Amino acid sequence: MVELSPLRQDFVWGTATSAYQIEGAVDVDGRLPSIWDTFCRVPGAIDNGDTGDVACDSYRCWPEDLELLKQLGVDAYRFSIAWPRVIPTGSGAVNAPGLAYYDRVVDDLLANGIKPFVTLYHWDLPQALQELGGWENRDTAYRFAEYAAVVGAKLGDRVTDWATLNEPLCSAWIGHWEGRMAPGITDPAIAVRASYHLMLAHGLGVAALRASAPKSPSVGLVVNLSGVEPVSTEPADIRAAQVADGHINRWWLDPLFGRGFPADMVDVYGVELPEQPGDAELIAAPTDFVGLNYYFRQIVKADESVPVLGFRQVPGPNPEHTMLDWEVHPAGLEELILRLTKEYGAEKIYVTENGSAWVDQPDQDFNVHDTARTAYLEGHLAACVRAVEQGAPLAGYFAWSLLDNFEWAYGYAPRFGLAYVDYPSGERVMKTSGKTYRELIASHRAVGV
Ligand code: IFM
Repeated sequence: MVELSPLRQDFVWGTATSAYQIEGAVDVDGRLPSIWDTFCRVPGAIDNGDTGDVACDSYRCWPEDLELLKQLGVDAYRFSIAWPRVIPTGSGAVNAPGLAYYDRVVDDLLANGIKPFVTLYHWDLPQALQELGGWENRDTAYRFAEYAAVVGAKLGDRVTDWATLNEPLCSAWIGHWEGRMAPGITDPAIAVRASYHLMLAHGLGVAALRASAPKSPSVGLVVNLSGVEPVSTEPADIRAAQVADGHINRWWLDPLFGRGFPADMVDVYGVELPEQPGDAELIAAPTDFVGLNYYFRQIVKADESVPVLGFRQVPGPNPEHTMLDWEVHPAGLEELILRLTKEYGAEKIYVTENGSAWVDQPDQDFNVHDTARTAYLEGHLAACVRAVEQGAPLAGYFAWSLLDNFEWAYGYAPRFGLAYVDYPSGERVMKTSGKTYRELIASHRAVGV
């Protein structure tokens, strides 16, 4: 078992989900469509034609999910709020039943000694705002701030831990550049403007939460980062790795930490940023933590045929790859935690997501022996410990995910859960990885008792 004693005594052990991936009930209690409801209807957009219409049915089955959290013995649960439930048209009227759902989730968590870590935006933009230009439109950032204020005012008497956005990289680059995620746009210039407005929304959201939440909130941004390495020592590959690092990591971290958007990347993109006076300060407003989502590193090769960026990813050398063909490389997590610490001076870091997808099969007794996921979990926790031993201010770890769920364009085939979901019946069962996580948490708590 991994030796966790170097982690601080108040280390936060958690697990994470997001609204569209688990809730289902997309037309219940006044919820209106998000860009993901729309995208799921585009022929060929999602593997197997899957949608989030039902997902894990967590909107109705929340008590079962709460039982899973209790079984795990976690300190915290990171979940996201669906903007289209709370303000279904994106701005204006607040939908009381939608907000009431999260009110209950928060109360239930607290009644069971589990801290809610709330993410305000995990990609489910109200479709009505997309009709007005979505993230390409600066107004969307202001609408986000209004929404943040509504949620902060309602839940902020009990919720203290908030993330504004989850993985703006995916919203901007995969949603607007590559088109593999909602809203399915394939235009680099739109993507760059969207990325800018997402970061602006983060800054405005921080201010809105600080102004509206009655209890002093702890607020941060959740970014997905990947260490980038060139495939060779050829100058072209080294240059490709610098561009990839700019695109994947520095584009988000530099403005967040007050360095502005990286000039070399503005040149690469060749797109004028829609900057207005005061934006840089808003985006860099002090936050209380940075959330790091880590899944894999990226080995890159120069490729002039790739428009704008001129690089492509090549397979990593480690033998083990998950079912999504993501290289298993725990040292990458250690390196990123240390980079945030040393290069950016982060004072508090949470690993807000980390996990792996496999094809799980329950045995005849409905047990799931997910040895690969269990090894992945232990390997990455060991990487966290190594980073802490080198001085990183790591305050918590959230396993992705509490339960199998809708994995976006890949549909339901990749399973990331610590708990297995039998989709036809909705039945849940803790996998071996979940049981191991429970033991690891307990072993850490036992230290110093
Ligand atoms: O499922 C996603 C999650 O929504 C965001 N981070 C990565 C996970 C795995 O792909």
